[in-house]
Amino acid sequence: MTLKIPVEIHTLRQIVEWGAEQFDQAGLYFGHGTETALDESAWLVSHVLNVSPDYSGVDVEQRLDESQKQAIAKLLQRRIEEKRPAAYLINEAWFAGHAFYVDERVLIPRSPLAELINEEFQPWIGQHQIENILEIGTGSGCIAIACALAFPEAKKLVATDISDEALAVAAMNRSRYGLEDRLELIQSDLFSSLATQQYDIIISNPPYVDAQDMADLPDEFRHEPELGLTAGQDGLDLVVPMLAQASDYLKPGGIIVIEVGNSWEALEQRFPEVPFTWLEFEYGGEGVFLLTAEVLSEFRNSFISES
Ligand SMILES: C[S@@+](CC[C@H](N)C(=O)[O-])C[C@H]1O[C@@H](n2cnc3c(N)ncnc32)[C@H](O)[C@@H]1O
Repeated sequence: MTLKIPVEIHTLRQIVEWGAEQFDQAGLYFGHGTETALDESAWLVSHVLNVSPDYSGVDVEQRLDESQKQAIAKLLQRRIEEKRPAAYLINEAWFAGHAFYVDERVLIPRSPLAELINEEFQPWIGQHQIENILEIGTGSGCIAIACALAFPEAKKLVATDISDEALAVAAMNRSRYGLEDRLELIQSDLFSSLATQQYDIIISNPPYVDAQDMADLPDEFRHEPELGLTAGQDGLDLVVPMLAQASDYLKPGGIIVIEVGNSWEALEQRFPEVPFTWLEFEYGGEGVFLLTAEVLSEFRNSFISES
C-alpha cells in the first residue's frame, strides 16, 4: 500500500487531520504516548517538520512543499502498516515533561506516576527530606530520571532492571540528562543484586499484565518487550515478591509506590487485610497504590506467605 496525500491537501493542519482519518480507518490502537488518532498524527507530522510536538509558535495554516508531504506520507504509512507505536518510529517519548530516547528494548513511557513525580509525591511525603530513591524495573530510565530532576537535592538514585538491553537505553537517557553522578543503574532481579541500603522512596512500574489481558493486547503492544508486560496468571508475579522484600530497603517514614494497573482487583483479593492507598490522578490512570514503611512491615508476613 502506498499512502498518497490527495492533491487538494496543502496545509499542515489539513495533513494532520487527513492523517488522523487514515489512522481511524486503519483501526489503529493508541495509548503509547497519545490517546487519539489526531494526536498521533500531529505527533508524527511534528517530527518530520522538526517542530515542537505541542506546535508552539508554529503556523498550522502554512502550506507544505512536496518533499515534506512525501516524508509525512511515508511515516504515516509505516505507522499503519507496521502497527508500530509512534514513539518507536521516531525513537522518542515524553514522560513528566521530559523527552526520552526509546526503542524496542524498552517499554514506551506512559505511567500515571509522571503526575505524582511532578507533584513531588505531595501530599504523601510532607516536609520529609528526600535523600535517596530506588526504582525497580526502570526500562528507559524515565521514572528514575524524572525523579532525579524533580528532587535535585536527592544525592543518590538507584534504578534496576533485569534486562541488560533496557539498561543500555536507560544509560543513554541518563547521559542525555547528565545524571551519571547521581543515578546508578544496576542489573538485578528485583532486589537480588542490591546492597542493603534503605531509601526514602521506592517506586516501581513493574510488569503487571495478567494472562487474559496479554492474550487480548492490540498489535501495537507486540512491539514492546514482553518482559516489560507479562506477569503471570493474575499479573502479580513481580508485585508480591517485591512487597515481601521491600521492607528491608525502606527507611522508617519512607513510602513505596507501585503501579499494578488492571491487576489492582487481584491484589485486593489476595490481600483483603492490607489497607492499600489507591492514588487518584487528575490526568487519568489508575491502579497505583502507596504503602508507608510502617504498613509494609506490619503486613510483611502476609506478603511473604503469598510470594
Ligand atoms: C512496565 S516496564 C516499566 C519501564 C519503565 N519504568 C516505565 O515506566 O516506562 C517494567 C520493567 O521491569 C523490568 N523487569 C521485568 N522483570 C524484572 C525483574 N524481575 N526485576 C527487575 N526488573 C524487571 C522489565 O525489563 C521492564 O523494563
